[in-house]
Amino acid sequence: MSGAGTLDLPEDVTPNDVTGALARRLLDDVRRKSGIRHDRPLERKLSRILMAMPLDMLESWVRVIEQSPADSPDWLSLIENLTIHETYFFRDLPHHAHLRGHVLPAIIQARRTERTIRLWSAGCATGEEPYSLAILALETLADLGEAQRTDHGVVTAWTVDVLGTDISRIAVRQARNACYSGEGLGAFRDLPAEYRLWFVPLEGADPNYRKVRADARKVVRFQQHNLMAPQPPETGFDLVSCRNVMIYFDDDSRRAAQTQLIEAIGPGGWLVLGTTDRPIRPELFERHRGDRALAYRKIGGPA
Ligand SMILES: C[S@@+](CC[C@H](N)C(=O)[O-])C[C@H]1O[C@@H](n2cnc3c(N)ncnc32)[C@H](O)[C@@H]1O
Repeated sequence: MSGAGTLDLPEDVTPNDVTGALARRLLDDVRRKSGIRHDRPLERKLSRILMAMPLDMLESWVRVIEQSPADSPDWLSLIENLTIHETYFFRDLPHHAHLRGHVLPAIIQARRTERTIRLWSAGCATGEEPYSLAILALETLADLGEAQRTDHGVVTAWTVDVLGTDISRIAVRQARNACYSGEGLGAFRDLPAEYRLWFVPLEGADPNYRKVRADARKVVRFQQHNLMAPQPPETGFDLVSCRNVMIYFDDDSRRAAQTQLIEAIGPGGWLVLGTTDRPIRPELFERHRGDRALAYRKIGGPA
């Protein structure tokens, strides 16, 4: 069986034409199931993966992938090769300063009765963003006299619950490990000095590696979740953060993802997006501008 013969392609196509056509077919499937849109670098990446496979197996493999649901191991192993997990702690310092100076104090003020705050980082890659949120939440509680900074970490009567989710199972597994490298453009490339003590060296390991301190680790949990799923993983969050994720989506997928994010925010809760994203339903939010930072508060709640 010739690969080209089974594809409804012209007889004179070269293997590269075949892999190119199959790559485009697979990218349609990737867009449908994950929201990630076609672009040339992605097509090249996928073509290279396909060219490593025997031509006569390719079309049947593509068909298997197309027929696999978005939570199947076959499909998820393809997506592992196509997602970009670039991230680092406190990515975008003005944004994090706005969270600590304005957004988190407002959330804490609104939750004084329940003494619980719940935050979701959607598309969290290897976990740097949810751990940054946890550190900021604990620091803000201490700033406001609702927690104590002790030799054993930050101690508080509040419940802080941070959920990190990503489509990539490998990224989620790494996030749960909470160990990061400081080499080169690593996870600590932009870490402000005031947060250094939140990371501890690993005994007997390369000194470049550090682990998130236990008091931050214990308030963060992770789950694999696809933003194209019909429902958010949970609802009632005080803050939902989805940054540097929807830049890879087309318009329909952005709308689908944001519908889910908005549904997950509790009354009066907050939405924070990447610098190029805007809420699809601006009428539901009031804008809170900081110094080079913007956050959106859902209208109609206690916060
Ligand atoms: C560039 S990272 C951004 C990480 C972090 N939010 C930040 O701002 O540093 C984008 C992440 O989005 C994830 N992603 C892409 N499509 C997704 C989807 N449909 N559902 C959930 N996560 C997705 C990727 O796996 C990747 O880890």
